[in-house]
Amino acid sequence: MGFTNANFPLGDDGRTYHVGTKLGETANKILTVGDPARAKLIAQTHFDKDVPIKEVSSKRGFVTLTGAYKGVPVSIVAIGMGISMMDFFVREVRAVTEGPLDIIRFGSCGSISERAKVGTLAVATDGAVCATRNYDHFTGTGDNSAGLTKWLNKVTGRNDPYHLSQVVKPDSRLSNKLVSKIKEAAGADNVATGLNVTADSFYSSQARYDPRFPDDNQQLVETIQKRYPNAITLEMESFMLLHLAACSGRKADGSVDPQLRIRAAATTMIFADRLGGEFITYEVTEKLEALAGKACLETLVEMQ
Ligand code: URA
Repeated sequence: MGFTNANFPLGDDGRTYHVGTKLGETANKILTVGDPARAKLIAQTHFDKDVPIKEVSSKRGFVTLTGAYKGVPVSIVAIGMGISMMDFFVREVRAVTEGPLDIIRFGSCGSISERAKVGTLAVATDGAVCATRNYDHFTGTGDNSAGLTKWLNKVTGRNDPYHLSQVVKPDSRLSNKLVSKIKEAAGADNVATGLNVTADSFYSSQARYDPRFPDDNQQLVETIQKRYPNAITLEMESFMLLHLAACSGRKADGSVDPQLRIRAAATTMIFADRLGGEFITYEVTEKLEALAGKACLETLVEMQ
């Protein structure tokens, strides 16, 4: 297999370099998950039985399953973990599909709120922010500037160990529909809504303690909660989906090319209680995957 175009590599047969799909292999309504086994479970359990499921697995770990739900073409794409994988997924799928896309992420997360208990679900109705490690802070030299620059760095937080972005919002109609479908499936008491924090590490920028690295993250959860009191979840993908969806097809005058429009929303299963320390069991995960996976598909196919 040869690839051409170093700027946006495409195979001789039109397949993208990482996700590995070509035009016609991905539906315009997409559920994206991390775990390929979760993707297969949801597709096998809920896709229409009379439409064969087409599977494309890439060398880079992406799995695309395309079939139908209630007669509407749908894809489930497993992307693994992290903002880079989400970036590959959104850009490469966008390149080999035509017309507007609806994308829901269904993943796992940690909780930093009493309102989001392990074994329940969260929907990022308030959107997401990105927490990134400030790499320069950790180079061993600290802030070498002096005088006005040092003072400016301090007041602007430029030398803080972690940076928090501004909020990016989901598509409100898609997100609200997702909340009602998930509440219907799991019970309203088992669904928290609020802001997601997407981190560039499972460890340092999610405030996990690792004695082998000087992560300076003891204050991070408190810092997040002070700046964003509605923050409930910590994970590694949702912000990038919402961010790219908000940017897709946007022109210099602020208008959006309707053919490139992406509506996106995000929901997560709470795997880890980052305030108390509890972790989810395998049995509860399987139950949540099946019921919330179906709620996501319902949301996608009902969205006009
Ligand atoms: N995924 C994450 O990114 N963090 C968690 O704590 C759990 C799942």
